[in-house]
Amino acid sequence: MATEKLDPVTGRTTTGHEWNGIEELNTPVPRVVLFFLAAGILFAIGYWLLMPAWPLGWTYTKGLLGIDQRNVVTRQVEEAAAERNAAWAEKLTATSYSEALGDEALMHHVRETGRTLFADNCAACHGINATGGPGFPNLAAKSWLWGGEPETIEETVRLGINSTNDDTRVSQMPAFGRDGILSRDQIGSVVAYVRSLSGEASSGVDEAALSSGREVFAANCASCHGEDAKGNREFGAPDLTDSHWIYGGNLQTVYSTVYGGRQGHMPNWGGRLPPTDLKILTLYVYSLGGVTP
Ligand code: HEC
Ligand code: HEC
Repeated sequence: MATEKLDPVTGRTTTGHEWNGIEELNTPVPRVVLFFLAAGILFAIGYWLLMPAWPLGWTYTKGLLGIDQRNVVTRQVEEAAAERNAAWAEKLTATSYSEALGDEALMHHVRETGRTLFADNCAACHGINATGGPGFPNLAAKSWLWGGEPETIEETVRLGINSTNDDTRVSQMPAFGRDGILSRDQIGSVVAYVRSLSGEASSGVDEAALSSGREVFAANCASCHGEDAKGNREFGAPDLTDSHWIYGGNLQTVYSTVYGGRQGHMPNWGGRLPPTDLKILTLYVYSLGGVTP
């Protein structure tokens, strides 16, 4: 049985073990070691609670912080995509229309983003495919009121037509009947004449009515729609010889147009959409249904 005794040099007790005269001092484990041991255990428990840690067979402890590597990766991928988007949008800002149209990679982004922008801002009036409807022109038809060059389209969209903008494009089809400019007979004949120009049914209309309609047209309508009725982009007056109608080509509708006049309203987007969005929309509209202006 070992017996403890006091070591005369250090003043500590010994463990009582003795090997050939060598005795072992009874020194406690240093506090700092105990401290780090305790800190390590606390850290481990904290980590298990906060982070994904223990496998539980079909699942695992998720941790209170909700950190998930899958989410982290998804976010990084999204950030990278956003950076790429910003890169092409920035490129577009610095690119002229003709350069952009020649850049297929850029136009790919423009068409994708343009479709969304158009759906959000324009489709309510022009339709999701931009083909319009009664009162709203078909933008894919290339039958332009104001012109189909990108710069012209941008100006139309920026300023609007009969809009609240000070510099708005202004157009008006006068009310020839209501304002007493033409008699009912004159309107009847000019309507027949106009409908004959685009091949809308003119059966039952005699030559005499058509020729008097032609005279009424030359005197009252040609100033805006042109001698040949092909329209005038200076006044936003539509081509009356093609098959595209804003309001409609049937007898009743054309009569109403000439009798009561028309004035379409297109909002101005200059203050509402950032310049890059205007550019994207312009290129989108321009390239609808082929790229001939
Ligand atoms: C509130 C309805 C409305 C909305 C929304 C609208 N437009 Fe229009 N837009 C019109 C009308 C109406 C006209 C024709 C005006 C007229 O009859 O003179 C028109 C005409 C145009 C024209 C002129 C076409 C030509 O032949 O010169 C362009 C281009 C156009 N819109 C593009 C757009 C774009 C792009 C947007 C979305 C940013 C948009 N519009 C949103 C009603 C609208
Ligand atoms: C002051 C210029 C002006 C004169 C004069 C004028 N128009 Fe117009 N006309 C317009 C404008 C601008 C529009 C487009 C209105 C709109 O879209 O809001 C239009 C539209 C029309 C339309 C509708 C076309 C469609 O696509 O639905 C018809 C039809 C028409 N005009 C016939 C006539 C006839 C017939 C006369 C002569 C009796 C005449 N216009 C005289 C400016 C004029």
